[in-house]
Amino acid sequence: MTFRNVFIAVVIAAALIIGAFVVNQSRPAVQTAQPGAQFVKATGKCAECHLQETGAIVHEYELSKHAAVGVTCLDCHAPAQEQTSEDHRGFVISKAVTAANCRGCHATEYEQYARSRHAAPAWAAVAGTADFTPEQIAQGEGFHAGAVNREPNGLARLEGSAAITSGCASCHSVGKPNADGSIGSCTACHSRHAASVEIARTPSTCGSCHMGPDHSQVEIYTESKHGVMFAAQRSKLNLGADPKTLSTRDMFVPTCATCHMSGLDGQRVTHDTTERLSYWLFAEVSDRRPGAGMAQEQMKETCTKCHTRPDIDRFYTEAEAVLEKTNERVKEAQAIMKSLRDDGLLTPEPFDEPIESVYFDLWHYYGRTSKHGAFMGGADFVQWHGNYELVKQTAELKDMAAEIRARHAGAGAGSVGSGLDAGGGAPAGG
Ligand code: HEC
Ligand code: HEC
Ligand code: HEC
Ligand code: HEC
Ligand code: HEC
Ligand code: HEC
Ligand code: HEC
Ligand code: HEC
Repeated sequence: MTFRNVFIAVVIAAALIIGAFVVNQSRPAVQTAQPGAQFVKATGKCAECHLQETGAIVHEYELSKHAAVGVTCLDCHAPAQEQTSEDHRGFVISKAVTAANCRGCHATEYEQYARSRHAAPAWAAVAGTADFTPEQIAQGEGFHAGAVNREPNGLARLEGSAAITSGCASCHSVGKPNADGSIGSCTACHSRHAASVEIARTPSTCGSCHMGPDHSQVEIYTESKHGVMFAAQRSKLNLGADPKTLSTRDMFVPTCATCHMSGLDGQRVTHDTTERLSYWLFAEVSDRRPGAGMAQEQMKETCTKCHTRPDIDRFYTEAEAVLEKTNERVKEAQAIMKSLRDDGLLTPEPFDEPIESVYFDLWHYYGRTSKHGAFMGGADFVQWHGNYELVKQTAELKDMAAEIRARHAGAGAGSVGSGLDAGGGAPAGG
């Protein structure tokens, strides 16, 4: 009727349009991207029903890059080669979704991962060769000689299958062979439906396995300057940045992934977490790895995206000094154990005598901790959880060794050659 009414009508109409636009914008991309018929069938039907059944899965998926670029539920759940099919509500899906289902679209990541110790060596460390095909063993040995073709772990055998399933395997299954011929799990770092780079770059993701007294990487990181800065500045970091263009503006504080995997400012990104390592820090006595020089250069290239070279060279020199001193201490303890074995004073079974646990803790807990602390900036771990314990455990080990000798000398005096430790020769290093 009047200008006033027309004006109100226009305002309301504009508000409705803007409102609709805002509402539409806040909808997940999966709904707004107007997917084609295939996408609707392969994701829409699954999602519609699974929203009722397992709503969180659908929501995680909707937040993922996969949903944004049109990768469907069925793209992952359809049977890949050699997988067992299952009829499921009008679809054919695979009983298991493994690295084989990712490999089709992410061949480069799979191949790099397969070269790393996260693949076959991680599983062989617990279970030996039993679950691998001869081809897989040969391939794994080609990448890491001696790391796949080995006996099942002695401690794992001793602890039994219940402890292996809920313990060792939860972490080491990152490299377990799958029934379809592929190896390992991509979802250990990316999770299943979020399939996220951001999650993989978050230290606590790596830390779910890289923790505890025998490999305290996440604890060391948390107390290092890097970890402290990460906690303080996390909200300013772009953890979801595209790996191909990742820069020090996205990540000006390093996480585990930055040093071990990322391609910062044009460096080569890799799923082979072995590539930048120059020592076997987890070993009893740490030697240089094959190709150590090149590996160390690659790690230093990462450091020098944020630091100056002289500072980094000095840091490595100091860490290498800790490594050498730790090697010395472990060798001294090793010699004590060897002489007990040579003299037939220990049984061949592992972990049936307390001194064996003291020696194991000495290198496996405190030796490793001191080396890992030195290379990743954890002063408390080099010192109180590392070297102090090394000194303490060495004293205890010597004391125990003397006691064992005294006990045997006493027994021997009464019954020379009685063979208290009959057959107690040196074990073949279980
Ligand atoms: C009409 C409902 C419905 C549809 C459509 C549907 N599902 Fe399911 N799905 C279920 C229910 C219910 C379960 C729980 C287990 C069961 O009863 O089979 C399930 C279980 C699953 C499981 C676990 C299977 C297992 O053995 O543990 C997977 C994986 C799965 N669905 C994937 C999919 C995918 C992918 C699609 C689309 C291609 C899909 N579903 C379509 C209802 C549905
Ligand atoms: C990026 C690949 C990928 C996509 C896309 C995907 N899934 Fe999955 N899904 C997996 C993996 C991996 C598992 C774990 C399978 C296993 O353990 O064998 C899984 C497991 C499941 C399960 C069983 C979960 C449980 O904990 O019991 C259901 C149900 C399921 N998916 C439904 C869906 C639905 C519905 C969609 C689409 C909305 C979807 N998935 C999209 C990879 C994917
Ligand atoms: C049908 C092909 C296809 C399958 C199957 C598939 N992906 Fe993807 N994936 C893609 C595409 C396409 C992208 C987007 C790539 C890009 O933006 O460069 C992507 C992106 C990703 C990203 C990066 C996400 C981010 O946050 O930037 C990860 C991680 C990933 N996929 C992991 C997986 C995993 C793990 C599996 C198996 C469980 C899998 N994908 C299965 C096609 C696939
Ligand atoms: C599911 C458990 C698990 C997760 C998650 C995990 N790792 Fe590992 N990682 C292992 C195991 C087990 C090994 C030991 C493999 C072996 O040598 O037997 C290992 C070994 C390594 C090594 C040493 C490789 C070598 O050559 O000695 C590096 C470096 C590493 N991981 C980095 C990472 C980073 C970075 C992340 C996160 C982005 C991560 N890991 C996530 C279980 C895990
Ligand atoms: C909390 C996760 C976790 C559990 C549980 C675990 N490990 Fe590990 N293990 C790791 C990680 C991470 C490494 C890599 C350490 C490093 O490189 O510094 C590793 C390294 C090893 C290594 C040395 C690397 C190699 O390939 O020789 C052996 C052997 C090993 N683990 C065996 C076992 C056995 C056997 C069990 C169970 C009795 C077990 N682990 C339980 C995470 C775990
Ligand atoms: C040890 C943890 C870990 C495992 C296991 C792992 N990834 Fe990743 N992945 C990462 C990290 C971390 C990044 C991001 C690297 C970076 O910072 O740029 C990444 C990045 C990716 C991307 C994005 C690459 C790009 O250029 O956009 C894809 C795709 C991917 N991973 C797929 C896989 C597949 C497939 C597997 C299994 C074969 C796998 N990942 C196993 C940690 C892991
Ligand atoms: C600032 C860079 C940096 C960060 C951040 C970092 N690391 Fe490291 N890491 C190193 C260096 C350097 C080494 C020793 C390299 C060598 O052997 O030359 C190392 C060694 C390791 C090893 C030892 C492998 C062996 O030989 O036993 C593992 C496993 C590992 N890091 C995992 C992690 C995890 C998990 C995190 C996060 C919780 C992490 N790192 C954070 C730089 C880093
Ligand atoms: C993405 C950037 C980045 C990378 C990569 C990086 N750092 Fe750092 N680093 C930092 C930041 C930021 C600090 C905190 C500096 C400050 O106090 O302002 C820091 C601090 C340090 C410190 C402590 C300095 C002090 O006096 O408190 C050491 C040591 C160090 N880094 C060594 C390394 C080594 C070794 C590497 C490679 C293995 C490395 N960093 C890789 C960003 C990085």
